[in-house]
Amino acid sequence: MTADKTVFIKTYGCQMNVYDSERMSDTLVPLGYAQTDTLEAADLVILNTCHIREKAAEKVYSELGRIRVLKAERDREGRGLMVAVAGCVAQAEGEEIIRRAPVVDMVFGPQTYHRLPDLIDRVTRGERPSATEPDAPAAPARRTRVVETEFPAEDKFDHLPPVDGARARGRGVTAFLTVQEGCDKFCTFCVVPYTRGAEVSRPAEKILAEARALAAAGVREITLLGQNVNAYHGDGPDGGAWTLARLLRALAAIPGLARLRYTTSHPRDMDDDLIAAHRDLGALMPYLHLPVQSGSDRILAAMNRRHTADDYRRLVDRIRAARPDIALSGDFIVGFPGETDADFEATLDLVRAIDYVGAYTFKYSPRPGTPAADLADAVPEAVATERLHRLQALIDAGERAFAESLVGRTLPVLLEKAGRQQGQLVGRSPYLQPVHVMAPPERIGAIVPVTVESLGRHSLNGTLAEAREPAGASAVRLSA
Ligand code: SAH
Ligand code: SF4
Ligand code: F3S
Repeated sequence: MTADKTVFIKTYGCQMNVYDSERMSDTLVPLGYAQTDTLEAADLVILNTCHIREKAAEKVYSELGRIRVLKAERDREGRGLMVAVAGCVAQAEGEEIIRRAPVVDMVFGPQTYHRLPDLIDRVTRGERPSATEPDAPAAPARRTRVVETEFPAEDKFDHLPPVDGARARGRGVTAFLTVQEGCDKFCTFCVVPYTRGAEVSRPAEKILAEARALAAAGVREITLLGQNVNAYHGDGPDGGAWTLARLLRALAAIPGLARLRYTTSHPRDMDDDLIAAHRDLGALMPYLHLPVQSGSDRILAAMNRRHTADDYRRLVDRIRAARPDIALSGDFIVGFPGETDADFEATLDLVRAIDYVGAYTFKYSPRPGTPAADLADAVPEAVATERLHRLQALIDAGERAFAESLVGRTLPVLLEKAGRQQGQLVGRSPYLQPVHVMAPPERIGAIVPVTVESLGRHSLNGTLAEAREPAGASAVRLSA
C-alpha cells in the first residue's frame, strides 16, 4: 500500500520506548502512514512518553501546548491532526491527560499499542462528518476520544506485525529487541512496576526469529531490552524456561550477528550462567550497565534494592574475573529521602571502588503512588543539587580517564552511519563510545580496527588501522 498520510512519533524515556515507537510505526504502515520527522508535516502525532521523573512527565505537557497551536491552525485550514499520547505517562495518568490537554484524541499505555489501528478507526469514525455541518466550528466536547490503559489479557507481541525482512530493512546496523517487559522488583522510588506492569518474558523462539530477520536485513548488533532484562525466563523451544544466558548463546550463533548487548540488568539477577556467558561469548560486548543507585546500605534497604554495597562489589569482582576487560556503567539517585552526608560519601566510595566508565546520575524525584513518595526526611533541593554535581564530576573524571586509556590502542569499531564531516563515518567501540573515523560509506556495517588518536567530548577520533596493516595484525582480537 502506498503511504498517503504521515505520522510523527516523538519518543521520550528509555530504549524500550524507542523499540515501542518503531513497532507502533510498523502497525501504521498497512493503514497508509509513512513516518515524518517534523511535527508540522504530520497528520497523526504520537508522543511516546516517560513517567520516571517529574521532569520527564512534564515535558509531555509543554509539547502538547505546541501541538494545540498547530491543531488550531489545522482546524482553520480544514486539515485534521490526530493527537495520541502513548507510553508510561499515558499508563499512569490515563484520562487525566485529556482533562489537562483537551487537544489529545487518544491515550494508550505501553501494553495496548498493538490496538492502535483500531483506536485510530474509533476516533476517525466518531468524528462528526464535516459535510453535514460545513460551517460548524470544531466542538471538542463532541469529539470521540479513546483511553486504553488496561493491561490486556492478550500479549501485544502476538498482535503486532512480525518483524520480517521488509520491516527490518532501513533500521540501520544496530537494533533494539525487547525480550522482557515489566518489573516485579518494586524499588520504592520507581513507577515502572505500575506503568509497565508485571514481569513478562517473550518466548525464545519469537526472539530468535526476530533476531534472524534483523540479521538478514543487515543488522550486526542487537541490544536485548527489558526493564529487568537479566530476569528473563522465556519459554524455550524445548519446553523449559530459558535464561538470558541461554538466549544469548543461541543468539550468538546467528550468522551475521556480530555483537550482542543487553540492558537494563538488576544486580540480583546476575546469575553464574550469565557471568559465564561474558567469559564465553566473543559477541557479547565487554560493557555492562549495572545500576546500583546508592552505595549506602541504609539507603539501599530503604529503596528496597535487596542487596548491600558489598554484595555489589563482590558481584563486580566475579564479573571481572570472568571478563577482565569489561567496562561498567551505572545509574545513581542522589537525595533519596533520609540520605545523609555519610550515605552520600558511601556512594562516592563505591563509585571510586568500581571505577565506572560512565553513569547516569539523577536527583531523586518523588513519584505519585510509589512508597518513597510518602517518606519523611526529604533532602533539601540545594543539598541534592550539590551532591548531584559532586557525583557527576567523579563519574565524568572516570569516563575521561577511561577514554584517555584508549588513546593509541586499536579497537574493533562497528561502522554505523555517515558522520558530520565529508568522508567521515561514525561507529561504536565495544564500550559503546561513538568513534569518528575517515572511511568510505560502503564500509557501513563492517567491524574495522580503528586506532584511537584523540578524544572528543564524549567520543573517540581514530584512523582506520587496516589501511596501514592487515586486520589480522591488529593488537585487538576482532569480534567479526
Ligand atoms: N530497571 C532499571 C532502571 C529503570 S529506570 C534498574 O532497575 O536499574 C532508570 C533509572 O532511573 C533508574 O536506574 C534510576 O536511577 C532512575 N530513577 C528511577 N526512578 C527515579 C526517581 N523516582 N527519581 C530519580 N531517579 C529515578
Ligand atoms: Fe524500577 Fe527497581 Fe524495577 Fe528497575 S528494578 S524498573 S528501578 S522497580
Ligand atoms: Fe520511562 Fe517508562 Fe522507560 S517510565 S524509563 S519510558 S519504562
